[in-house]
Amino acid sequence: MKVLIIGSGAREYSIGLALKKDKNCSCIYFAPGNGATPALGENVALANLYDLAKFALDNKIDLTIVGCEEPLSNGIVNIFRQLNLTIFGPTQAAAMLEASKAFMKNFLAKYAIPTAKYIETNSLEKAEAFINTLNPPIVVKADGLCGGKGVVIARNLKDAKLAAEEMLSGTAFGTAGKRVVIEEFLDGYELSVFAITDGTDFITLPICQDHKRLLTGDLGPNTGGMGAYCPTPLVNKTLLDKIKTKIIRATINGMRSEGTPFEGVLFCGVMVVNGEPFVLEFNVRFGDPECESLMPLIKTSVVDLFYKAATNRLKEIDIGYHVKFAAGVMVASAGYPTKVTPPQPITIEPGAERSDAHISYAGVTMKDGTLYASGGRVLACVGLGSTLLNAVENAYDLVKKVHFEGMQYRNDIAYQAVKR
Ligand code: AMP
Ligand code: GLY
Repeated sequence: MKVLIIGSGAREYSIGLALKKDKNCSCIYFAPGNGATPALGENVALANLYDLAKFALDNKIDLTIVGCEEPLSNGIVNIFRQLNLTIFGPTQAAAMLEASKAFMKNFLAKYAIPTAKYIETNSLEKAEAFINTLNPPIVVKADGLCGGKGVVIARNLKDAKLAAEEMLSGTAFGTAGKRVVIEEFLDGYELSVFAITDGTDFITLPICQDHKRLLTGDLGPNTGGMGAYCPTPLVNKTLLDKIKTKIIRATINGMRSEGTPFEGVLFCGVMVVNGEPFVLEFNVRFGDPECESLMPLIKTSVVDLFYKAATNRLKEIDIGYHVKFAAGVMVASAGYPTKVTPPQPITIEPGAERSDAHISYAGVTMKDGTLYASGGRVLACVGLGSTLLNAVENAYDLVKKVHFEGMQYRNDIAYQAVKR
């Protein structure tokens, strides 16, 4: 099969790495890819959705996999399907689960799917009135896509009102903040749950934990994610059953009832409070860095899995896993997440990558045969192991063999599950 992967992060790299080892995949294209993806396939410098569809037609692409949310929200799946191209991902209408937090919260309320108490509004007066009914901390969210930055956890009523005002006036996030969701704070632990679905059936992948704060000890600003691991021991069968029935099944059925079946990867950001799961957010694509840890665990052909999901035949898949744990440590440039700093050459010690430790690349460029860290999240060091501790140690052994000026990473990935 010829496959086109849309995106440029470590998430898309890790999908490419899985496909490279997959006997069902003959050829990989990345649009646009990054400075390291040419080691796995061919980079295609296209971004316009119609140009991508033309490329897929001209090159007889059998399957397109969309890694990132923007093209999904902009309707790439609708455009490809009109041309009878096979694409793995939700339609524009189904992608609203991520594109609008107000849409998502109203959907959850309609189908009685557990989530934090909330209002969604474009009126500062209503926002302030609801804030007055809550006990701090109070969560204020911009409705639209903000690259993971649109959430403020305010420590008091005054800060919550200020955050709502800054969003609604457009100063904080432009039009994405013109509507806000205000919600109660849920105090628990977070899980990243991924369901591959064809709109009817679903397969739940090993449950992950991400680490959103920049610094060790869950300090510093929120980021896209600084590391993840799976499967997490923080889920037992009872909890998993609740997540599957109350959240995933209810969402898939609800989206069908709305006339907008959800196909692709449903990423449920779940908060567990006293053993009960609540939806914090939905994303309509794989998590980054979660994907980097998930991909190497899947034993089944990943191309076949995505292809069957994209062609409403998920039932035919009997998914298998390597009996292993995976942990990924994100290494970011100096200045992340607020500043982009000048590119820095990367050196990797010889023999650093092994069968149980590898790199998935993100913010890198290649110049004259040298790989440069070009800002943001640069690469993920992924360790595999027969125990979680083993996987984490393998990931950190690899981190120590990667060098570039100003690199930053957390020392405590998987701290809720293992002591190092
Ligand atoms: P979101 O983009 O909605 O997932 O929010 C980003 C992060 O903010 C989440 O991963 C949580 O850590 C935190 N968060 C969001 N909503 C809540 C909530 N209602 N209670 C506690 N923490 C929250
Ligand atoms: N790791 C969280 C996300 O991809 O949104």
